[in-house]
Amino acid sequence: MELKLPYRDKITLGFSLARSAGYTLEQLTLPVFEFLATGQTRRPQTQELDKLRQAYRELYQLLKKDSENIDKGIYPISVLKPEKLTQHFRRYPRILLDGYQLSKRRQRREAQDFSPEAEEYLADLPTYYKRNFHYQSGGYLTKSSADLYDHQVEILFSGAADAMRRLILPLVKAVRPGTGEGLHFLEVAAGTGRLTRFVKLAYPKAKITVLDLSYPYLKKAQENLREFDRIDFVQGAAESLPFQDKTFNFVYSCFLFHELPLEISQQALAESFRVLKEGGQLGIVDSLQKQDAHGLEWALEQFPVDFHEPFYKSFTQHPLEDLLAEAGFTQLNKDRGFFAKALLAQRPISS
Ligand SMILES: C[S@@+](CC[C@H](N)C(=O)[O-])C[C@H]1O[C@@H](n2cnc3c(N)ncnc32)[C@H](O)[C@@H]1O
Repeated sequence: MELKLPYRDKITLGFSLARSAGYTLEQLTLPVFEFLATGQTRRPQTQELDKLRQAYRELYQLLKKDSENIDKGIYPISVLKPEKLTQHFRRYPRILLDGYQLSKRRQRREAQDFSPEAEEYLADLPTYYKRNFHYQSGGYLTKSSADLYDHQVEILFSGAADAMRRLILPLVKAVRPGTGEGLHFLEVAAGTGRLTRFVKLAYPKAKITVLDLSYPYLKKAQENLREFDRIDFVQGAAESLPFQDKTFNFVYSCFLFHELPLEISQQALAESFRVLKEGGQLGIVDSLQKQDAHGLEWALEQFPVDFHEPFYKSFTQHPLEDLLAEAGFTQLNKDRGFFAKALLAQRPISS
């Protein structure tokens, strides 16, 4: 039996808050492993508790909005389907071990620490990419890193990463309602396919081409998305897309631009413009930038200190809105939630 809407709204919010609490508890265990690895750990100061309170208020607002979007039918409740608990808790000890290794790498400021498996891929990759982003083991270049990535990101963002990814969906649904029948989408830098899943659930009939530079992440995306049809997988770079001009109706990415040098971001936007059909949309979800921070500036400053993110500071200083305009896009709409913002732009007709 269909639950009454007000209750469904509250139940989904309750579920998301409980999920967030679970990831927050997992986050709280990591300083123990940092201490074991380095002999040090960072204890929150009183003013940091105020910052945390502010961050958790933002997190609550994001999860509330996410529940309302489900309630309004913008995307289905199946976006919240959890993985099996056994799967989750089998992975958790590996996350703790990686937390230990990551802390050691962070203490040494060592961001080019590659296993033989990762080294196999290095020759074919651009220099800016050959690093352990976040100090994570293997960078984006091992099967193990791809196995742990989604869970690690959810721990980092207290279980709000998926809801941040979904910020783009209401924006695009407002201009492209329906099931996606006859449409071809491109997801750039799809990683393990987390946002691809949500886009596919919101647009079950769309064809989606999934692109990433990382072979192991692309393989993981293929495994994660095997229940869906009309998805294909291409290894390639955002700044030199292997597709013909005017191929796609919608091109989008999530958490890509903060990891690119400025000139590569500009090239990636020019490439997205080229492969979009006239009148097609570009969607971006990424970190808040300086002009959007509104009291969260401390988080924007702390993130590249705690995690290896060499291009993040420059990213926060160059508004995506300006880069989009320079690339020829017209901006349609934007939204924000917790530490992320979503932007929707359009390639003008007759361009
Ligand atoms: C922070 S992860 C985000 C992954 C995914 N979009 C998500 O929401 O979790 C960044 C991803 O961008 C990919 N990437 C980085 N630079 C790229 C480039 N120039 N072209 C294509 N993919 C790139 C990485 O391999 C990685 O999968």
